[in-house]
Amino acid sequence: MADSKGQGGRGALRRQAPAVTMEVHLESGEARRALLAEVRSGLCVEGRLKELSPKWLYDERGSQLFDDITRLPEYYPTRREKEILQAHARDIARESGADTLIELGSGSSEKTRWLLDAMRAEGRLRRFIPFDVSEAFLRQAAEAVAHDYPGLEVHAVVGDFERHLGRWPRGGRALVAFLGGTIGNLKPPERARFYASLSASLSPGEGVLVGTDLLKDRARLFAAYNDRQGVTAAFNRNVLHVLNHELGADFDPRAFEHLAPFDEENRWVEMRLISTRAQTVRLPALRRHVNFAEGEPLRTEVSCKFLPEQVEAELDAAGFTLAERWTDAAGDFALSLALKR
Ligand code: AVJ
Repeated sequence: MADSKGQGGRGALRRQAPAVTMEVHLESGEARRALLAEVRSGLCVEGRLKELSPKWLYDERGSQLFDDITRLPEYYPTRREKEILQAHARDIARESGADTLIELGSGSSEKTRWLLDAMRAEGRLRRFIPFDVSEAFLRQAAEAVAHDYPGLEVHAVVGDFERHLGRWPRGGRALVAFLGGTIGNLKPPERARFYASLSASLSPGEGVLVGTDLLKDRARLFAAYNDRQGVTAAFNRNVLHVLNHELGADFDPRAFEHLAPFDEENRWVEMRLISTRAQTVRLPALRRHVNFAEGEPLRTEVSCKFLPEQVEAELDAAGFTLAERWTDAAGDFALSLALKR
């Protein structure tokens, strides 16, 4: 299944292309089939809470909007995580003892480079393995890093971290970085499955570095996900454009309101699109309709907020021992480094 494509490009282009290898575990067309299946079970079952997973928020426009979110005054997680990484990249490199950095998602950011720089400064850097669902994005990111780190082996893996974890070449000592607080998008059972499969993919002594947003004052949580400029609202509504574009649906994004309240029981912020009126939306790709009552929500994301000890306990349950946890000065965000037993 793994279709291995070495060296990118062809002919004359190949000479200039940096040494990047790539393996693809997601076929084109697979994403659309998965979306169809999710819409069928998540939107079309009468009487059930309507829900879509957050991965559909990130088409090109959605990724751009998320990038805009990270610069909003109210959205603190990205800045906090950067603050922590900048201060402790060297500690992370030393305590992990890793020569291979595996990054789940992103892979091109400033944060990646701080980790790579720190590993290089420790004299151990050998390999970088960015792992992402988007082949085009990955190729770009991988080539940019290969270009800037001569001698670094770069092996990109196209996959879904809920299905293809561990499909990377072994050898050396890996540190898996899962940054940004994306772990919070997984509900507790999914999170336990994720940690377990990550644990099964690593050897004793190998590590995971996970970024988690922490529980805090509810007003600040609310502000971060309901910003004044409405960027988060646009990001949320964008999923309706995705459905229109991918499935030929006829959602009117103006007929849905963004709201992201904090759920005290589950300790997560959840993004909802709330139907402003009773309406019927056509889904030609499924030959179906979906009905919304006035005020009916569609859940598009949960973003869990953690207690520091909770992160440690969940990692421990999957066979990881916490090596160290760092937080920013305000205690908003945590980076946890844990090693497989
Ligand atoms: C990228 C998943 C970490 O949950 O805070 C930002 C996405 N959603 N604003 C988060 C997001 C609404 C973000 N993560």
